Amino acid sequence: MERLVIEGGHRLEGTVPICGAKNAALPQIAAALLSDEPLTLTNVPDLADIRSMLTLMEHYGVTVAGPSHATVTLDAAAAANREAPYDVVRRMRATVLVLGPLVARFGHARVSQPGGCAIGARPVDLHLKALAALGATVSLDGGTIDARAPEGGLTGARIVLASPSVGATETALMAAVTARGETEILNAARDPEVCDLAQCLIARGAVIEGAGTHRMLIRGVDRLRRARHEIIPDRIEAGTYAIAAAITGGHLELTGARLEHLAAVGAALEAAGVRIWPTDRGLMVAMEGRPRGLDITTEPYPGFPTDLQAQFMALMAISEGASLIRETVFENRFMHVPELARLGADIKLQGTSALVRGVPALKGAPVMATDLRASVCLVLAGLAAAGETVVNRVYHLDRGYEALDRKLVRCGARIRREDVP
Ligand code: UD1
Repeated sequence: MERLVIEGGHRLEGTVPICGAKNAALPQIAAALLSDEPLTLTNVPDLADIRSMLTLMEHYGVTVAGPSHATVTLDAAAAANREAPYDVVRRMRATVLVLGPLVARFGHARVSQPGGCAIGARPVDLHLKALAALGATVSLDGGTIDARAPEGGLTGARIVLASPSVGATETALMAAVTARGETEILNAARDPEVCDLAQCLIARGAVIEGAGTHRMLIRGVDRLRRARHEIIPDRIEAGTYAIAAAITGGHLELTGARLEHLAAVGAALEAAGVRIWPTDRGLMVAMEGRPRGLDITTEPYPGFPTDLQAQFMALMAISEGASLIRETVFENRFMHVPELARLGADIKLQGTSALVRGVPALKGAPVMATDLRASVCLVLAGLAAAGETVVNRVYHLDRGYEALDRKLVRCGARIRREDVP
């Protein structure tokens, strides 16, 4: 196991290249299963979660070429339908995204109920209801999801999602593109990652309208063809580095980042006193002095993303004033609060809200990473804290951030990675 040792108090200045989006790449890798023609994805980030998904593809007999220079070619011509093994599925919730493509292509899927970050109950009922609406028979059998299409395959239908779940929208979309007839997805998630999946499927011949709105229309096609698709930049990675610049009173250019995917985050940062503006290459972020306290509420896209809540809380911990942070997407996503308190943050939790009273400075201490976004929030806090912060269990970070410590060190951070004996 490894840990990061951070010497805080150094201003960040320089350029950070933003990788392709993990959450866009994962469903697109799963979507390779939909066709016997190859799919080439470019701008794929080099992350533990991506490697887990590629391993799962190999388990299904998909030939995986790469990743090399962020390009992966997936050829599912010889794919075979098997049960998804628990030891892969338990590591990452996104493995449930193979359900839709498997049922669509083979008429049957068996997948262990997924694991992933411990940030709430995270059921998959909406994924299963979407498949059932398309005609699949779905049952749970000793921790395994079993979904079976009727004779003749899935049929287009109206799917009304009870909430705009990202994953359930993606499952519905992937299952519908080769179903017979038309599918309407209502209350669809509008996230850029859903739009990117739709763009990838359209490049392969799928007929999809309305991606990025609450209502998507899909006309089923017989088969998908070969294509090459570039993954969009990771807005959560970009937002994380924007906060890194802000929390250290620094100045960073985030190459490849797109402000239009970060509208709510950009507005919140500006209200807190951070300057943020687009450049030819991406985004510039600059900060002087302490941020102002500001209230935020996490919401489905285009609202403030839950995946940046912990990082924003680290910034608010050193604000002038106070900040009320409400989490409405996941019910148990405040595991970073006691760890931030170890660094001297003044945070009071009440149900799904956290009241953060800004302190002039944080002080380094040993802390424990509990999930992906919580662990990066502790790194950000460590960059701002006086003295040494040790972040244990960094494998969470490596699931979602490519070369985080190297990118930060190049901009002036003092961080070393150590093996824990
Ligand atoms: C995706 C992202 C994750 C992000 C989240 C919300 C990926 C791989 N992960 O996760 O990083 O934090 O969107 O932006 O893209 N829900 C149900 N039943 C379901 C599905 C979801 O009740 O069948 C609930 C969840 O428990 C949660 C809410 O809906 O409270 C949102 O979840 P969802 O949008 O589905 O998140 P994921 O797709 O899992």
